Amino acid sequence: MAWYARHARDLPWRHTTDPYRIWISEIMLQQTQVKTVLPRYLAWLDTFPTIESLAAASADDLLKAWEGLGYYRRARFIHQAAATIMEGFEGRFPRDFDDIVSLPGIGRSTAGAIASFCYGASTPVLDGNVKRVLKRWHGQPDASDKALWLLAQQAINISGKPGIWNQAMMELGASACSAKSPDCGACPVNAFCASAFQVEVSQERRKAVP
Ligand code: ADE
Repeated sequence: MAWYARHARDLPWRHTTDPYRIWISEIMLQQTQVKTVLPRYLAWLDTFPTIESLAAASADDLLKAWEGLGYYRRARFIHQAAATIMEGFEGRFPRDFDDIVSLPGIGRSTAGAIASFCYGASTPVLDGNVKRVLKRWHGQPDASDKALWLLAQQAINISGKPGIWNQAMMELGASACSAKSPDCGACPVNAFCASAFQVEVSQERRKAVP
């Protein structure tokens, strides 16, 4: 977390705890790179500043605002979720994890991100990046999702700052512990990591440079 405080990229969704803004950023980031998301995210919030404005818009309006992000199913889920929030939650984004994860397009990891960033809940994020970090860190390249959820939950329970912990794990996966070119020398946990400076990590680096 100290490393994250020094190395975090300055991203707009890291300056808010508004669940609407966090929700949209997390859905966009599910399958799209940060640099592609950035301009679309800011434009989206201009077009649809509130959940109410989303629910009042047509599906076509949402699809148009989604242009360039790919996987358009996500825009349809957002539209459905906005309607559910208006009808079932009095227009307010739900606080409870079970309610959040019940919304269309929101799985356990995205719900974990929203609940931890907005409400400080001890709910892990386990996306592709975080899975890779945990597998390397624990030296368990074949760990099951079940085992990884358990490791992620244990870590967040002792972190004391779930939102920052989750952001830091994602940042580590996006930088020093990237899939193709891990840089163990730059990693804040290399002293505790089962894979630091080891063959399988450096082999991946060789694969990345044919
Ligand atoms: N990918 C998914 N969520 C993210 C976040 N909050 N910051 C950066 N990358 C992400």
